[in-house]
Amino acid sequence: MGSETTSASLAPFSEKGFYLSEFRGRTLAIAARAEDLRAPAPLEAVLKELEANPTRVVLVSTEPGALGSLLATTVLPSGSGGVGLEGAVWRQLRRSSRVGLVVEDAPHFAPACREIALRLAVSKWIWIDPQGGLRAEDGSPRSFVDLEELQALLRRELPEESPERCSLLREVEAALAGGLVAVNLCTLEGLADELFTYAGSGTLFTRERYVRVRRLGLDDYDAADDLIGRGVAEGYLAPRSADEIERVLANGFGAFVEGRYLAGIGALLVHEPSHSGEIASLYTLTRFLGEGIGGHLVRSALDHARASGCRFVFACTTAERVEHFFEREGFRRVDSDAIPPEKWRSYHAPRRSRLRCLRHDL
Ligand SMILES: CC(C)(COP(=O)(O)OP(=O)(O)OC[C@H]1O[C@@H](n2cnc3c(N)ncnc32)[C@H](O)[C@@H]1OP(=O)(O)O)[C@@H](O)C(=O)NCCC(=O)NCCS
Repeated sequence: MGSETTSASLAPFSEKGFYLSEFRGRTLAIAARAEDLRAPAPLEAVLKELEANPTRVVLVSTEPGALGSLLATTVLPSGSGGVGLEGAVWRQLRRSSRVGLVVEDAPHFAPACREIALRLAVSKWIWIDPQGGLRAEDGSPRSFVDLEELQALLRRELPEESPERCSLLREVEAALAGGLVAVNLCTLEGLADELFTYAGSGTLFTRERYVRVRRLGLDDYDAADDLIGRGVAEGYLAPRSADEIERVLANGFGAFVEGRYLAGIGALLVHEPSHSGEIASLYTLTRFLGEGIGGHLVRSALDHARASGCRFVFACTTAERVEHFFEREGFRRVDSDAIPPEKWRSYHAPRRSRLRCLRHDL
């Protein structure tokens, strides 16, 4: 026999797979009032995905009937505040990947859910609400809100939200202040998108806005490659050959919110002959657009360029909005001949004519 070996190859990268790997082996809490689970098909589909992953789920609702059909396992009374909840849930989750908890006291559903999520210290608390995530006064979605911003919103009493939603948001605040890392608020129909897509469908609340930028490692390359592909398809990023993409990945860095949620990527390509650095493949995930992630990535690239002895850093874009973004980060618009000539070797000529070139002298 030859020396052939069989190897288990990983499934091709997908956005959903990216999030499933984040949830693998963890426990999520999903809370929904019984009246919001009358047509539970979207939740059933998500529960199946999580079970196969595997991810454990604590499902909390107001009536045993709403949970029975989804769980096919024991539904425990939450006995909110009582002793033994943690042990009872743990025991149940060793037998099955889902457990149901019923909070009979419907008017106190939100505080009871917050208490359950905190006592069990779950990785995420997902709140299903027919109104979905928060919206700004102009109706645009607020897809990412940290604790400080939530507290500021609550101080001005959110006239656009009902008193019931405001009290729910106070529970979200208490959960984050109490130590929970993340809470999601979305509709039942938007649940899969909220959990498994870069854009999300509702609002992700996190305890902090702390953003860490670090070099991409091998385990980040699939996600980064996928994001670059999106940027190219959307027309924001220039198409690159496979070799160029590998160079971008090897010199790439990512911004992670709270050290764990990938929010954006970029790369600094050093051009030795001209002692310059090119910011390449800068891309912020939809959910985090306009939240300062691009700024973190650019400043980190500038630091890295200084440390590498670059004399200047440049970037090219076809979008006016992105041009202004770079100007705010201290870049100035220059002619394309102020960019190192090696950049233009084999560059797609029609795209070059549409480019806005930006340069930051160090
Ligand atoms: C350019 C980009 C990385 C900025 O990321 P970001 O995380 O939103 O950046 P910041 O939050 O630090 O700054 C946001 C500012 O960027 C500008 N901007 C550019 N494109 C934007 C977009 N699609 N949505 C929102 N803001 C955008 C706005 O001027 C915004 O300022 P404003 O909030 O006052 O309107 C991001 O828009 C992106 O991924 N664009 C697509 C890819 C691309 O063009 N890359 C650059 C090629 S080098």
